[in-house]
Amino acid sequence: MSAEILILPGDGIGPEIMTQAIRVLDLLRMDHGLEVECIPGLLGGAAIDATGVPLPPETLNLARQSKAILLGAVGGPRWDGIDRDRRPERGLLQLRSDLDLFANLRPAVLYPQLADASSLRPELVAGLDIMIVRELTGGIYFGEPRGIRTLGNGERQGFNTLVYSEHEIERILRVAFETAGRRGGRLCSVDKANVLEATMLWREVAESLAKAFPQVTLEHMYVDNAAMQLVRAPKQFDVLVTTNMFGDILSDCAAMLTGSIGMLPSASLNGSGQGMYEPIHGSAPDIAGRDLANPLAAILSVAMMLRYSLDRADLAQRVETAVGAVLDSGLRTADITSSGTRSVGTAEMGDAVVRALRF
Ligand code: IPM
Ligand code: MG
Repeated sequence: MSAEILILPGDGIGPEIMTQAIRVLDLLRMDHGLEVECIPGLLGGAAIDATGVPLPPETLNLARQSKAILLGAVGGPRWDGIDRDRRPERGLLQLRSDLDLFANLRPAVLYPQLADASSLRPELVAGLDIMIVRELTGGIYFGEPRGIRTLGNGERQGFNTLVYSEHEIERILRVAFETAGRRGGRLCSVDKANVLEATMLWREVAESLAKAFPQVTLEHMYVDNAAMQLVRAPKQFDVLVTTNMFGDILSDCAAMLTGSIGMLPSASLNGSGQGMYEPIHGSAPDIAGRDLANPLAAILSVAMMLRYSLDRADLAQRVETAVGAVLDSGLRTADITSSGTRSVGTAEMGDAVVRALRF
């Protein structure tokens, strides 16, 4: 029986990059025996326009039934004026939360062909291969109470709550230790334990869990230092594990080391083998609909889906190899262009990957 994949193109450049990702899935179906059925759904601003809410119940039902979800991006200035509970981003956060997709894997890998596109000198980033494990369903993005209240003197005050229970910390650290065990065996847990109680507990839980993973070396780092080390000497890291907000920030930072945020996929997993796959870049409304966006992060998200949800590591490898071959051939979207390469648009980049997959 074929696995159901829910496709949520979302907003901005989401639909364009998703079109290319689906072409890749179609080719794998036709030529390589991949058994999947793609089901389209609405999320974010697109869902607000059609139904009034960013995560319609129908989308949530489809998401619950599907084996995996492939997501483009959500949000854009068109929906900025909307009530904050119904913004496009809320739909994404709610979907992550309702499916309990607590483990967010964000690889930051430098393709050797793109060393010139990195903001750092090539020798600092050559061979870069970091995995950021971000806690995705807790912390300050979800903590209660939250809101904007009016004080007695009439002044308004915004407030959020950073809260982590032991079980939430333990389960994300377990994923991180296991990930490190399968890679270079080094785990750096990033916190702000010198100031925030929630992350003092985080550090304690990390220490006690470390005993169960003697093959992994655990180190702790404050988030401010981690941000600095990422741009000073990024190759010191193997696996980083951190809270929802710190992971959001550090993963964008790490993305830049690899040349472009337009290259990086991510996987968000729950405890029952379901996964959601999305590029880590946003909806880029400024370039939407102009055939400028880089579809490679979306295509590489398909590769992560093949590996983590569909048990087809062989096809994941094929997709990654095809992307490498296309970069070797000198094709570049605007975000990764450099001298001596040929600039192409979103669709032509997708064409090239599909062609490379045929061989
Ligand atoms: C990300 C994004 C989201 C997040 C936004 C769109 C809600 O920045 O996936 O990193 O903050 O998690
Ligand atoms: Mg982000």
